[in-house]
Amino acid sequence: MTDVSHEGERLQKVLARCGVGSRRVCEDLIDEGRVTVDGEVAILGRRVDPLTAVIEVDGVLIPAAPGLVHYLLNKPAGVVCTASDPQGRPTVLDLVPEDPRVFTVGRLDAETEGLLILTNDGQLTQLLAHPSFGVEKEYLAEIDRTLTSGALRKLRDGVELEDGMTAPAKVALVAEHLVRIVIHEGRNRQVRRMCEAVGSTVVRLVRTRIGPLTDPTLPPGSWRPLSFDEVVALSTSATTGDKAPLRR
Ligand code: URA
Repeated sequence: MTDVSHEGERLQKVLARCGVGSRRVCEDLIDEGRVTVDGEVAILGRRVDPLTAVIEVDGVLIPAAPGLVHYLLNKPAGVVCTASDPQGRPTVLDLVPEDPRVFTVGRLDAETEGLLILTNDGQLTQLLAHPSFGVEKEYLAEIDRTLTSGALRKLRDGVELEDGMTAPAKVALVAEHLVRIVIHEGRNRQVRRMCEAVGSTVVRLVRTRIGPLTDPTLPPGSWRPLSFDEVVALSTSATTGDKAPLRR
C-alpha cells in the first residue's frame, strides 16, 4: 500500500479533474483498490504530482498531467510525418497548432491518407510504442487488380517480407479493386508491401481506424481533439486488447 504524503494534489481531485467521474466516484474507485500510482495500489488520502505520476484505473492509463493535448488528424496524401522534409514537402506539424509541440504516434508514409494521432502525452506514446502494443489499425487499399482467393488467404495468414513474416491479418474484399486490411503491427509501408508480396500494387491507401478511433466526418487536412473517453478507450485497447473501457 502507498504511504499518505502531504505533498501534491489529492488523487481523487486529480482524477475528477481529468473527467474520470465526480470526486465521490473517484473516492470510491480508490477505496475499491482500482487506482494505482506508479504501479502501487493507492489508498484514500494519497497525494500525487500530476505532472509525473503514472496513474491507472483498472490498469488503464489516465492522462493526468495538465497541458496534455491529443489530436486526431486526417492526413492528406503528399504530407510527411517527419518534423521537416529535405524535399520541402508539407509536414503534419503544419496542420496542427504549433503550441504545445506535439509528436506523431506512429507514422503514415507520405502518400498514405487517413487517421493519425499527434500528442505531447509521453506516457501514452510510450504505451502505444511498446512492442506489445497490439491496437488494430484498419486500412482501405485501392489496388490495381482483383485479388484472387489465394492471394486473400495469403494476406490473412501472413506473407514473407524482407523484414520477416507478417502476423495474421483480417482481410476483406470490399469491391473489385478495394480491400479492407486490419493489421496490428506497424512496420514501414507494411500494407503496400503486403499487397506487393501477392502481386498487386496499392494505388491509394487510407487508414480508417486506430483501435477504437474512427471519424468518417473529419475532412482531409483537418484535426480535432480526442475526448477524454477516446483517450481512455485507446489506452484500454493497448493495455487490455480492446476490452470494455473504464466503468464509471
Ligand atoms: N502501410 C503502408 O503501406 N503505409 C502506411 O503508411 C501505413 C501502413
